[in-house]
Amino acid sequence: MIRLTINDREISVPENTTVLEAARMHGIGIPTLCNHPKLTASGGCRMCIVEITGIPRPMTSCTTPAADGMVVITSTPEIEELRKLVLELIISDHPNDCMTCEATGDCDLQELAYAYGVQGVEYAGEKRFYPERDGNPFIERDLAKCILCGRCVKVCNEVQGVDAIDFGYRGFKSKISTSYEEDLDCEFCGQCIAVCPTGALRGKQWARKGRYRDIEQVDTICPYCGTGCNITAQVKQNEIIRITSKPGTWNEGWLCVKGRFGYQFVNSPERLTKPLIRRDVQFEAVTWDEAVAYAAGKLQAIRKKHGADAIGGLSSARCTNEENYLFQKFMRAAVGTNNVDHCARL
Ligand code: SF4
Ligand code: SF4
Ligand code: SF4
Ligand code: FES
Repeated sequence: MIRLTINDREISVPENTTVLEAARMHGIGIPTLCNHPKLTASGGCRMCIVEITGIPRPMTSCTTPAADGMVVITSTPEIEELRKLVLELIISDHPNDCMTCEATGDCDLQELAYAYGVQGVEYAGEKRFYPERDGNPFIERDLAKCILCGRCVKVCNEVQGVDAIDFGYRGFKSKISTSYEEDLDCEFCGQCIAVCPTGALRGKQWARKGRYRDIEQVDTICPYCGTGCNITAQVKQNEIIRITSKPGTWNEGWLCVKGRFGYQFVNSPERLTKPLIRRDVQFEAVTWDEAVAYAAGKLQAIRKKHGADAIGGLSSARCTNEENYLFQKFMRAAVGTNNVDHCARL
């Protein structure tokens, strides 16, 4: 273990921990923009600078390894002035479109601008302007709101292994780009949206569906496959308007295209909402009690006439473990057969 002092607090952290990670482990806040806890650090934005005794200049805490005996101060008037300057420079080249931006209320840049009282009028000058929008079906890429933090590039490379995007050009013309600036044509996992700290990346299908503050968050499990990723349905007026996943879940907040974007069927008016029983050729809507009694009567009749092993049950890999457990329990204990299988046997 390494022992160091942050803001007069002596703390111990494991080897190979950065100063930022050490602070986070002990609940000490340091503002960040380009850093994401699950991606490699690049030290690009300079918001996380701290003072370290014996080093004559501020150091980026996200790229500085913690060392035995290190003494760190996370906030001094000089450090705060520098952080404010960084924000002023970033926001001087930003649309400041918070009134209509989909990210309002869920934007790290907006939060920091508020905390530091930065309006973006300090350094008037040329602004980047990108009239062309991407023609892909899922992801809105508004590069004027991009702060070039690189999180999207890293998640696409380090987590998804796709490398669909990278930094293009140099200097003021730098931008996140696909090869030859073609429309994004990738796995559309949406991980880049999940890690973007601004409104530069958003899902097309949730545009104008609701402000962050109006949304109720409902934790649930993705219905698509047996992996069973934890998801959070963002619900407004009883309608799911987007799907996210929390970083602390077993799938670490990562989702695939189906889990993140394939949720509209839930809101479809064509979904079955009541059980149906076929009477001759017509289906008739019945109550759940009637449907269960009907199915139980049919199963009992088959078991009486042909024995329990004349019945088999097929469950689904799209059910949760708990649902599949209950299903096999029902087949074995209630029906009396081991004839249980599922639709995903390969
Ligand atoms: S990205 Fe953030 S700071 Fe920029 S306009 Fe949208 S909400 Fe405002
Ligand atoms: S949607 Fe996924 S694959 Fe496509 S650019 Fe974003 S992270 Fe990469
Ligand atoms: S699009 Fe978002 S995540 Fe990617 S570099 Fe720009 S601000 Fe960062
Ligand atoms: S968070 Fe450390 S430099 Fe951006």
